[in-house]
Amino acid sequence: MYAIECRDIVKSFGEPPLVVLKSISLSIEKGDFVGITGRSGSGKSTLLYVTSGLDELTSGEVLLSGKNIHEFESKELHLFRNRKMGFVFQFHYLLPELTALENILIPARKFKEEKKRTKYALELMEEFDVIHCRDKIPSKMSGGEMQRTAIARALIMDPELLFADEPTGNLDSENGTKVMDILKEVNRRIGTTILMVTHEPDFAAMAKRQIHLTDGRIDKDSSISRGKRK
Ligand SMILES: Nc1ncnc2c1ncn2[C@@H]1O[C@H](COP(=O)(O)OP(=O)(O)OP(=O)(O)O)[C@@H](O)[C@H]1O
Ligand SMILES: [Mg+2]
Repeated sequence: MYAIECRDIVKSFGEPPLVVLKSISLSIEKGDFVGITGRSGSGKSTLLYVTSGLDELTSGEVLLSGKNIHEFESKELHLFRNRKMGFVFQFHYLLPELTALENILIPARKFKEEKKRTKYALELMEEFDVIHCRDKIPSKMSGGEMQRTAIARALIMDPELLFADEPTGNLDSENGTKVMDILKEVNRRIGTTILMVTHEPDFAAMAKRQIHLTDGRIDKDSSISRGKRK
């Protein structure tokens, strides 16, 4: 079973419809790390939103671990998302009034697992070099520290899937590299399947598989050029 399977997905906006994803089919193995590149407006973020159920499809199907997420009731989808998926965005969306540790524990709080996961939160903070920010609020942290905290938050529930939209987008190259090293390590050690959008060709090259979008279609897929997939 694939971690992510997109079958002929189409996404359009507005009337007359602007077709942003033009019948994309894509299968991603469990434990894969996929980098998605493409020009601004090619549909990268839209692809991430519809495959994670954050946005509706116009047509087609998305299966996550074999489950058709767009058929879920909204409550079911929320539960599935909170349990199985982590999200990292370019602008981290940490809550400004909470400390780094409290921010990391937000997803755990929803399941009343704050206590149970505190030790793990601290381990992630050690590993991501933000332990010194434990009791700091985001405005007292650097951009890199905030982004690494956001990744720890995305991982606190041990998600099967991690969706990252430009996770290095507003970081300098040193901090961007740190974030990429963290994602690679999480993929390697925990086996989290990662779908990551990035503008940076060097960072995309660090993923196991690269997919390139042009105008709402996949026009390059490294796994096909290596002859692994038909
Ligand atoms: N909610 C929306 N309503 C209308 N059009 C939208 C909406 N969201 C995205 N679009 C359009 O869909 C196209 C693809 O947008 P998307 O955000 O997926 O691009 P992207 O590849 O992520 O670009 P970037 O690299 O700039 O982030 C763009 O033309 C955009 O204007
Ligand atoms: Mg985008």
